Amino acid sequence: MDITIHKTTAPKQKPSMDGIPFGTYFSDHMFLMNYTEGQGWHDARIVPYGPLTLEPTAMVFHYAQEIFEGLKAYRTAEGKIQLFRPNENIRRMIRSSEKLCIPPVPEDIYLQALKTLVELDQDWVPSEPDTSLYIRPFVFATDPHLGVHVAHTYLFCIVTCPVGCYYPEGLNPVKIAIESREVRAVRGGTGYTKCGGNYAASLHASDAAEKRGFSQVLWLDGVEQKYIEEVGSMNVMFKIGGKIITPSVEKLTVLPGVTRKSALTVLKSWGYEVEERDLSVDELIAAAENGTLEEAWGTGTAAVISPIGEISYKSKKYTVNNFEIGELTQKLYDTLTGIQWGKIDDPFGWVVPVC
Ligand code: COI
Repeated sequence: MDITIHKTTAPKQKPSMDGIPFGTYFSDHMFLMNYTEGQGWHDARIVPYGPLTLEPTAMVFHYAQEIFEGLKAYRTAEGKIQLFRPNENIRRMIRSSEKLCIPPVPEDIYLQALKTLVELDQDWVPSEPDTSLYIRPFVFATDPHLGVHVAHTYLFCIVTCPVGCYYPEGLNPVKIAIESREVRAVRGGTGYTKCGGNYAASLHASDAAEKRGFSQVLWLDGVEQKYIEEVGSMNVMFKIGGKIITPSVEKLTVLPGVTRKSALTVLKSWGYEVEERDLSVDELIAAAENGTLEEAWGTGTAAVISPIGEISYKSKKYTVNNFEIGELTQKLYDTLTGIQWGKIDDPFGWVVPVC
């Protein structure tokens, strides 16, 4: 597909990367493509980053028919730019599309759009340690219509922003609170998709947890509120008695993270025993109490590998690994980011060059 490019005539000043807040400064351009029933995806274009014009009745505002993705472009020491497993994000968005009744963006056009946009805004890919260009593709319903049904028109948009660490704590351990009243996802719902509605539903409990001094909420399952699911901005993994235990994604209530999948592959390649299974909150708390909970960390594109130093459950606080980054957590961070920034070999063939 041809992508029309309208370059900006007023390039923006780039922000300082020193302590840059996540998701705040956006690059010069954005990708747009429309979908119209009967015509399919059309008018692929890159235009200067700026406001979109939508009718107040655009269906996304009322019925939340919207999905998104998150991936990153990395600058190597040689100054080249590469993506990390972009097809995993593309395919996950196709699975989200199916659930939200949104027409899927074809994989080849999607990849072409990502590469073309990143190449055009290549000066926005930072080179400072621990930085990257975060890429946010999203699709939403645009029909000006009130009434709940599947829309007939959509907009696919990709914006990018230079980022450092997601959490203000940087690579220091974060505190998370197990949520025992509200739930993020239910069986048969949208938990496995990356739709805005999942995040909107998480805000009430997350905000309350933040006010109590926690970075995030750790969600339990929506049926029995017994099993660990995910944090919302990241999947979770625990090292208990030498084994790696992480909630399974099979019940479709947990987001199948790309970083999660990659971390599990790396851990298995190092010979770790990895269990993807139901992990009850009682089992986790027992491990914290009897000293077998050795390390805990979150995985996500934004969060990368984020050590968890404190878990709170029903007003009791449990410190993990003396609130220090664990040896395995650090090794996993160094290895995954080493591959992403091209500092070490990529034995799995995960990086995709852009320019
Ligand atoms: C990502 O990790 O890319 C996400 O979309 C998580 C979001 C909370 C920033």
